[in-house]
Amino acid sequence: MQQKTLTAYAPASIGNVSLGFDLLGAALKPIDGSLLGDEVKIELAEQFELKVEGRFADKLPADPASNIVTLCYHHFIQCLAKQGCDVKSLPVVAMTLYKHLPIGSGLGSSASSIVAAFHGLNQFFSTVLGETPFNDSKLLLMMGELEGQISGSVHYDNVAPCFLGGLTLMAEHRDQVALSLPTFKQWYWVSCYSGITVSTAAARAILPKEVPMATTIQFGRQLAVFVDALYRQDEKLAAAMMSDVIAEPYRKSLLPRFDESREFAEKQGALAFGISGSGPSVFAVCDSLEQAIVINQWLADNYIQNDTGFSHICQLDQQGAIIY
Ligand code: HSE
Repeated sequence: MQQKTLTAYAPASIGNVSLGFDLLGAALKPIDGSLLGDEVKIELAEQFELKVEGRFADKLPADPASNIVTLCYHHFIQCLAKQGCDVKSLPVVAMTLYKHLPIGSGLGSSASSIVAAFHGLNQFFSTVLGETPFNDSKLLLMMGELEGQISGSVHYDNVAPCFLGGLTLMAEHRDQVALSLPTFKQWYWVSCYSGITVSTAAARAILPKEVPMATTIQFGRQLAVFVDALYRQDEKLAAAMMSDVIAEPYRKSLLPRFDESREFAEKQGALAFGISGSGPSVFAVCDSLEQAIVINQWLADNYIQNDTGFSHICQLDQQGAIIY
């Protein structure tokens, strides 16, 4: 059957969520309905091509052949071939990436493009082939692999929440890549991008290669207690675990006005404040909309450094990647 044009959308995400370095991630959805994620359109064509449009299109490599979405397409076709599909008989597609998320922002920008590309291709070819080519686990493994090509190491804390939605914990056990965790529906997540660029590879390079025993124990305790508190819906205890003993002490030096922003958010009563992924975006967790509005405005006025920055009041995007 011929597939019609489709578009996949994949939301922005917060990697680490402070307390779960490389292991925890959350998908974001602005409460005002604005789009905070990349889109990938897929349509039938004579030959493969990638077009790039959108606010941040000009920040990507000029040659579409080196764009991550092109790499996703080739990887997808190779994986189909590996599982015995006669790829020469498949229809050819053209793809358009609508690059809405800034690069090097800590919002899971590359993950959003990767997830939209793979999810879109999987849906597109499921109609063509009469069955879904890859299940969610296989698709997540493929997404992680491509994310690794960009950031220099395979970590799923952006691709997993971006694809599955909500709050996800990495399992990375056999084909179980990620687990969906319960959340607090009443929490607001203020997410502010300052407008400067921090590459994930650079933000990883400044971290020590080894972590002291006491820090390791604290990290493990916080993550375990946080997950337990989520299951018991103990909001106060969960929030008390949301600090970063691994990366923030080193990375905050890359983020102008970080300490001041944390101080303001805490004075307003934010439940937690931290770096989104590898920065420069930051997030504040609030249990009231009034508080989130005040913090969002202050960050927009004080944390943003130039006119590419922006700030949104979000809740968790429970849907993850979608097709329309
Ligand atoms: N967990 C990774 C890091 C992802 O902090 O380096 C960044 O989004």
